[in-house]
Amino acid sequence: MQFLEDAGKTFNKLLNKAMGLSSAPSVIACVGPDDETVDQRTGYYGEKLVLFLQSLGLNTCWAGTYNEKNVAATINDGEKLVIVIAVGYGVDGGKVRKSKGVKDVIDVNGDCPQWFLDGVEMALLAPTAINQQKFLITLKDDESVEFTDKGGVLSQIDLGIVKCHFELGSGRTIVI
Ligand SMILES: Cc1cc2nc3c(=O)[nH]c(=O)nc-3n(C[C@H](O)[C@H](O)[C@H](O)COP(=O)(O)O)c2cc1C
Repeated sequence: MQFLEDAGKTFNKLLNKAMGLSSAPSVIACVGPDDETVDQRTGYYGEKLVLFLQSLGLNTCWAGTYNEKNVAATINDGEKLVIVIAVGYGVDGGKVRKSKGVKDVIDVNGDCPQWFLDGVEMALLAPTAINQQKFLITLKDDESVEFTDKGGVLSQIDLGIVKCHFELGSGRTIVI
């Protein structure tokens, strides 16, 4: 996680201007080994950082639409820039968005324990790219949970974020 105090021209694309991201003063560049696990791990640990920053009164936005050549991060051989997180004091705290319901994202036979429902509700509050919420949470038996990536843009990062939220809501430890 590389904090770049000056976001520079990270968000100079037209789309980012329209979304309000271009005024973000700073960014966190998430850089890691270019392997098949890095996206999910970035989502999981990045969201812990995001929630911490929000708790300090800052505002954040995961952003996949950055201008890569303008991100002044150090990226060594064998590494990649996974995603960036915009950081600053927002004009407002954001607004309520549409969300899928609990039944849309779970696969359960029979009754759900309360800890599972608490985890799913927190997972539905997780940000996902273009608000796609393309994940499925399966209760395997009374104690174990499985997460399925239903595909989509940056969906492995989403899944890591969702696991982070599920863990916080359910109080259970999730292996990522
Ligand atoms: C992996 C990822 C990539 C995202 N990329 C962008 C982006 O490029 N531009 C943007 O405005 N928002 C982006 N977002 C923010 C989502 O659009 C937003 O979090 C989602 O619609 C849910 O809204 P909420 O954060 O208010 O809960 C991204 C979110 C995630 C998780």
